[in-house]
Amino acid sequence: MAGKTIRVLCLGDLVGRPGRRGVRECLPGIKAAHRIDFTIVNVENAANGAGIRRKEGEELLGYGVDVMTSGDHIMDYPESLEYAEKEYRLLRPVNYDIPGRGAWIFDPGSGVRIGVVNACGHVFMKERCPTSNVFHATLDAVEKLREETPIVLVDIHAEATSEKVAMGWHLDGKASAVFGSHTHVQTADAQVLPGGTGYLTDLGMTGPHMGVIGRDVEPVLKRFTTNEKHYMKVARGGIRLTGAIFEIDVHSGRCAHVELFSHSLEGGQDDADEGP
Ligand SMILES: [Fe+2]
Ligand SMILES: [Fe+2]
Repeated sequence: MAGKTIRVLCLGDLVGRPGRRGVRECLPGIKAAHRIDFTIVNVENAANGAGIRRKEGEELLGYGVDVMTSGDHIMDYPESLEYAEKEYRLLRPVNYDIPGRGAWIFDPGSGVRIGVVNACGHVFMKERCPTSNVFHATLDAVEKLREETPIVLVDIHAEATSEKVAMGWHLDGKASAVFGSHTHVQTADAQVLPGGTGYLTDLGMTGPHMGVIGRDVEPVLKRFTTNEKHYMKVARGGIRLTGAIFEIDVHSGRCAHVELFSHSLEGGQDDADEGP
């Protein structure tokens, strides 16, 4: 990490085994090709499309992911909260009143310390636990981390684009980067805001893009056209990793450059029949 900037790769919601396979097979090459110093992946859909357990968490950390963020699906497995309490590299929303950490400072070994905050929006989101106002909680967390390091990145996991855009402006000049997750569709609005905060409304998805936000097309269409509930299997085809790369000045913490990121796994099909 010598030099004046660091390059942080942030990847959108990782879905099931196809997403894990994409990271396993592609992340080492991506890191080398794009000179990546630090990798953040949203993992709230890592276990069969919804939730994260120790099993998937350890697998992903073993592939070279530095920090895992999450969102509304963090409570899908009872063991997830216990895991979040023990594993400091797994963040849960800072505005959720549940075990674990919503913000933390990481030291990848170069002396540069990187703060990461994970937050969950309110608009069109089911509130599954007591929450506090996401704008207040996130700003408080960013300011606290800024006492320790100028480099702070924020994953705002939210449905409404307006809420995410507003969060970008709320934290402009305070956070190094603010990026959205949860919708599984990458947006094209990467920019550096006037105060020096890199911003993207949604990173997109790390998983199978031949489907409906990570699920097989057929059951989703049946659900929409009949209102009946159908089991929605994780899709298999078109494995792609999408997100953004933020280049951040290590002294000021300002974002020098942001670029959209997208990488397809060659072949792109998860062929195994069983298992999550
Ligand atoms: Fe998601
Ligand atoms: Fe989500």
